[in-house]
Amino acid sequence: MLISLLLMMNEENTTRLVVCVNQRFGPGQKSCGGSGSRDLIVALRQQLDRLKQDFEVQEQVCLGRCQQGIACRIAPGGPFFTEVTQKDIPTIIHALQHFKPPV
Ligand code: FES
Repeated sequence: MLISLLLMMNEENTTRLVVCVNQRFGPGQKSCGGSGSRDLIVALRQQLDRLKQDFEVQEQVCLGRCQQGIACRIAPGGPFFTEVTQKDIPTIIHALQHFKPPV
């Protein structure tokens, strides 16, 4: 039990990218899932593999920035990226590589 808790805490503190995959269906409701976030995640993971970068890309249901999707965030406690497209992948990976988690 204690080991599990320690492992969970370690995972929570590991630098990772959280990407919204939420899909909203109401009229005029923009969403990350509806804007192609799952395709973005595939492309991100492929690029990270190519670069041999071991960052997790974690799916999340809504980051509260629905009208600015695709939204993602570096965790723990890192910056948000909004209106993300696949052209932004190099910028996001660069930010992951240089991110220093808050102490
Ligand atoms: S739908 Fe992506 S932030 Fe809410």
